[in-house]
Amino acid sequence: MPDFQRVLVTGGAGLIGSSLVEHLVDQGCDVVVVDDFSRGRAENLAAVSDHIEVREGDLEDPGFTSQALGDPVDAVYHLASRAFGVAYSQGRHVSILHHNEAITHNLLTSLAKQPPQWLMVTSSSCVYPDDGPDIIPEMPLFTREPEAVNWGYGWAKRLLELKSELFARETDTSLTIARPFNIFGERYRWAGNFSQAIPMLVKRVMDGEDPVIVWGSGGQRRSYIHARDCARMMHALVAAGCDDGAVNLGTEKTVSMLDLVARIAQAAARDPKIETDPSKPEGRFTKSAEMTRFEGLVPDFDA
Ligand SMILES: NC(=O)c1ccc[n+]([C@@H]2O[C@H](COP(=O)([O-])OP(=O)(O)OC[C@H]3O[C@@H](n4cnc5c(N)ncnc54)[C@H](O)[C@@H]3O)[C@@H](O)[C@H]2O)c1
Repeated sequence: MPDFQRVLVTGGAGLIGSSLVEHLVDQGCDVVVVDDFSRGRAENLAAVSDHIEVREGDLEDPGFTSQALGDPVDAVYHLASRAFGVAYSQGRHVSILHHNEAITHNLLTSLAKQPPQWLMVTSSSCVYPDDGPDIIPEMPLFTREPEAVNWGYGWAKRLLELKSELFARETDTSLTIARPFNIFGERYRWAGNFSQAIPMLVKRVMDGEDPVIVWGSGGQRRSYIHARDCARMMHALVAAGCDDGAVNLGTEKTVSMLDLVARIAQAAARDPKIETDPSKPEGRFTKSAEMTRFEGLVPDFDA
């Protein structure tokens, strides 16, 4: 297992990043968090605030990025990205691509001056095309278009993967590429109508909406894991020395959107009618993670 003392986490105040920071502090690392707090929150890091250094600023700003990443670290976990729910992504593909591309460009340009031993970058299952298998293996990219409802975001993640691969080869840096599927957690920051599916549905149920409207047919199926597990899986991949291509992070188990709302309603002791709006996009019908690769790399992972 690589032995890192000083670790930098971009997006470390966010949903997944804050759990990763806690986990790294637990492992005895000195952690530097870089975040603009556009989506992350200081309270997510309250439990470890005495053990970390926070550098607040926007990674789309080259000056800030070069300063924030200016001193040597052993490993960089890159999670910062501009991402919202499908209602936001629609019609904003180009701006999402531009924002995320700027972050990638600034990050890699700055790291090139002083490459870390290890770089972990966070891609996404949105890199996969809509017409692939239901249980998605780590398919090669650039053959078809990424997921249509997240087209700009999917391309941004594809480019992040490609550029990071080239960077790693040129600078002799070890590279882990994580492709998380759908992640949820109580630290998700509410983004109004642009929120992701679980927080959106929880809010509708808790607001007493009746009926609760589910986008699309409602039969579409997603696989969810908690942000804490995703963070542990990211760290486990690096600890296992995985530096040979992308790895899915998720589960093969899926739940339909209609079932998901029913479970949320049951947990909240509410009983709303549940209806669908087929005029709204639902994305690919089934999105489930083929996990053989992760299981082979980290056979003793405590799920
Ligand atoms: N949540 C999911 O379902 C999911 C699925 C696949 C991939 N991902 C990826 O995982 C990573 C973490 O996602 P998350 O769910 O924790 O989201 P998040 O929005 O909670 O975390 C992203 C963090 O990055 C910060 N950030 C955003 N833009 C920044 C910028 N320009 N400069 C500095 N900081 C910036 C935000 O403030 C936030 O703390 C992202 O790269 C995301 O694309 C998430």
